[in-house]
Amino acid sequence: MKLLVIGSGGREHAIAKQLLHSEKVETVYVAPGNDGMARDGLELVDLAISEHEALIAFAKEKGIAWTFIGPDDALAAGIVDDFEKAGLKAFGPSQKASELEWSKDFAKTIMAKYQIPTADYQTFTDFEDAKAYIQSKGAPIVVKADGLALGKGVVVAETVDDAIEAAREMLLDNKFGDSGARIVVEEFLEGEEFSLFAFANGETFYLLPSAQDHKRAYDGDKGPNTGGMGAYSPVPHLPQEVIDQAVAKIIKPTLQAMVKEGRSYLGVLYAGLILTADGPKVIEFNARFGDPETQVILPRLTSDFAQAIDDILNDKPATLTWLQEGVTLGVVVASNGYPLGYDKGVKVPITKNHDIITYFAGVTNKDNHLISSGGRVYMLVTTQNTVKDAQDVIYHALENENTEGFFYRKDIGSKAL
Ligand code: AMP
Ligand code: GLY
Repeated sequence: MKLLVIGSGGREHAIAKQLLHSEKVETVYVAPGNDGMARDGLELVDLAISEHEALIAFAKEKGIAWTFIGPDDALAAGIVDDFEKAGLKAFGPSQKASELEWSKDFAKTIMAKYQIPTADYQTFTDFEDAKAYIQSKGAPIVVKADGLALGKGVVVAETVDDAIEAAREMLLDNKFGDSGARIVVEEFLEGEEFSLFAFANGETFYLLPSAQDHKRAYDGDKGPNTGGMGAYSPVPHLPQEVIDQAVAKIIKPTLQAMVKEGRSYLGVLYAGLILTADGPKVIEFNARFGDPETQVILPRLTSDFAQAIDDILNDKPATLTWLQEGVTLGVVVASNGYPLGYDKGVKVPITKNHDIITYFAGVTNKDNHLISSGGRVYMLVTTQNTVKDAQDVIYHALENENTEGFFYRKDIGSKAL
């Protein structure tokens, strides 16, 4: 089988590498991929994720069995619909189904209609209305741009003034363009965050091990929100009972709702959850795998990944088995300044340790080495008996390589200690 993965980050490196493990898979192409992936035997395709027609022509020419879609913007642009119209299979939700991610108002409407636990909210396009609502609710309160905003469209406001300012920037100053022309204002929820993922086809789904991301740039959850600075899986202190509750009250009814709404969901469903005093509630849905969660979940798969996705795509029962012991932990190394402006062109160290997997993101070849070309540059991942052991392995490796020009959080996994 020949497969194609769409995307270029660490998440896509992990997906493609895991697919290549399968005995049935000859070649995994990644479009556009990154130069670090080529070191793992993945084939790069010089096409952008937005070039649907060229990607379809490529898939036909190479006889690609199916395509795995990594990023949200490709889904929102209808890449799966275009592939299907061309008679090609793709693992990812249709444009209509991925609205769960690309419109927060749509996601909230579905949750309200089907009683899926989430924060109370109201949606606004008018600034004065939003202001009046914020004043009536008080702070803390959360203001969210409706559309995709690279994880930056959420303001957790400590004061009424900050919330009003955020609403003003989105609705009047067009800070996020069309994405912020409509906003969701919602209740602030308190509790520990975690992520649950499922491979879904209609109402059938397979739950993946839990994971926890670290969204803030600096230690102690300080600094600006990023795409994610590190993760571990499973979350050892998360009781099974909470996971069961999240499946029964969130994952299952959401997939059923999507079928009822005529938007049957195929692909990875990502539930960003918060464990409140009233049980788990939804912070957000994403219509794809998480980055960096994928990089700590997929190495725990002990069965054949490509076979499972092939079965799910073909409406057959799939087998997915996961490592039952230990924990998989990964730390992202990012360019100094990320997520704001940052330098590029810094030499990327190569980690040589058999216990560590390197997933590359913002890297490019120069002469015979890799240099940085993006915000998140690479991620080191290891599986060990405990979170502490895994931290020791990764941080020991990082302390012994030249990370000048880069930074990383030194407390990934510490909430589990
Ligand atoms: P999102 O992009 O929706 O995942 O939001 C980014 C981050 O903002 C989340 O990871 C949370 O830490 C925080 N957040 C979002 N919504 C809420 C909420 N209703 N209550 C508390 N924190 C929230
Ligand atoms: N790790 C957060 C995300 O993928 O959206």
